[in-house]
Amino acid sequence: MKYQFQAKIPAAQVDADCVVVGIYKANELSAAAQVIDTASSGAITEHLALGDFSGEKQRFSLLYQLPGVTAKRVLLVGLGERDKLNAEILTQATHIAAANLKATKVKQVVSFLTDEAAPEAAETAVRQAVIAVADTVYSFNDFKSNKVELPAPHLENWTIAHQTAVDLSTATHQGAAIAEGMKLCRDLANSPGNQCTPTYLAKTALKLAHSQTNLEVEVLEETHMAELGMGSFLSVSKGSEEPGKMIILHYKGGKAEDAPVALVGKGITFDTGGISLKPGAAMDEMKFDMTGAASVLGSLAACVAMQLPINVIGVLAAAENMPSGKASKPGDIVTSMAGKTIEILNTDAEGRLVLCDALTYVERYQPKAVIDIATLTGACITALGHHISGLLSNNDELANEVLAAGKQANDEAWRLPMGEKYQEQLKSNFADMANIGGPPAGTITAACFLARFTENYPWVHLDIAGTAWKSGAAKGSTGRPVPLLCQWLINRAQ
Ligand code: BES
Ligand code: MN
Ligand code: ZN
Repeated sequence: MKYQFQAKIPAAQVDADCVVVGIYKANELSAAAQVIDTASSGAITEHLALGDFSGEKQRFSLLYQLPGVTAKRVLLVGLGERDKLNAEILTQATHIAAANLKATKVKQVVSFLTDEAAPEAAETAVRQAVIAVADTVYSFNDFKSNKVELPAPHLENWTIAHQTAVDLSTATHQGAAIAEGMKLCRDLANSPGNQCTPTYLAKTALKLAHSQTNLEVEVLEETHMAELGMGSFLSVSKGSEEPGKMIILHYKGGKAEDAPVALVGKGITFDTGGISLKPGAAMDEMKFDMTGAASVLGSLAACVAMQLPINVIGVLAAAENMPSGKASKPGDIVTSMAGKTIEILNTDAEGRLVLCDALTYVERYQPKAVIDIATLTGACITALGHHISGLLSNNDELANEVLAAGKQANDEAWRLPMGEKYQEQLKSNFADMANIGGPPAGTITAACFLARFTENYPWVHLDIAGTAWKSGAAKGSTGRPVPLLCQWLINRAQ
């Protein structure tokens, strides 16, 4: 799908298969709807007078061949009450438009929905609209053998059209870049564990960097990691036949002397739990346990597409967590790269074990800020459910920045506390710390563990266990938190 922006478009003369316009509750017309209504001598008003549809949210009506209107179809989408309009409602409306047009023969769409956004909210609305369309038309069929039976996509072009003269092509382009990053993240996360291994993640990163001048990739192999003293990371990967990889990306969009920001992703390509084996139910979903890493790769791909003037380090801590004769056992003690010793009381708390060495490793870049992204704890799902990601931090300013970016991107996070009291739960009788803190506050003690390795820079931890994928009939990766991360990078680059 191609996305573009056009200002000052006359809605009635648009040469496209479908024009999309908003209708407010109680038959109130949006600006573009008014133009089409006038051009068609009141066809929209007449239609609304029938009473089947009157601008309620979540509803729509498709009209054909209105007199005086060039486009053969006009899609009316409900926006609810005018004074309650916000970015989320516009995004929802765009989603409804895309979902319904997907089932038609329409190829070219011109949508005036975001034309209704307040001027100060227009950029956000446009970015989100593009993301909403891409999200709606996304499908993952790499592993279906009968491609003929799949629904054929017709949509080709989606134009964000405004009647005003304001140029929102940058926001449109950013939305498309973020959507591409989300697609990369989702494709990787949806791929099964027997395809998407640490080696596959490394290959994907190398491929992404290959065609780009200001993106570089380095891959640390296990032997190199052993030399660096990454005993914690290696205690996870050693149980698997698949070699672990530490994949490091350098996006150089800023000045050479500018300190970078760093994104560090948990990349467990399959989490069986290891010797502390998980129960069988829904274990297939542990193929999504590399979403943190995939979201880092997706966000860096978006950075490249947007050419943001900023330096970013991406780290993918990629390993498979398996039980085997070589796997770590409960009670094993390992030494992390930072020199701290860890008693592995539960091999299923492996995310923090791979992340702590990655978080120590990024210190060498003297980052201005570090965000780690991880499907870290089931407890986060208990605390926040599937709508909001968990956020924990050692720095209020950075935490607030990231929370704000999440709100702006409609990809929200909520801050949970940390502190000395919780740190006590990680006490070990035999090592510097245990890798679990017992049942109470599992998300917080996991972050407390990571906090011991992030003391030298401002740091935010995002626990995306509840938001990274959907279960049930709509099982699949969501592409989150790529929108939040990209929005944060956009804001940082300004
Ligand atoms: N990847 C899981 C967390 C997870 C579980 C995410 C279910 C999404 C859905 C993580 O590696 C894990 O197993 N965490 C344990 C930690 C516990 C052993 C302290 C958990 O949450 O049960
Ligand atoms: Mn686990
Ligand atoms: Zn895990």
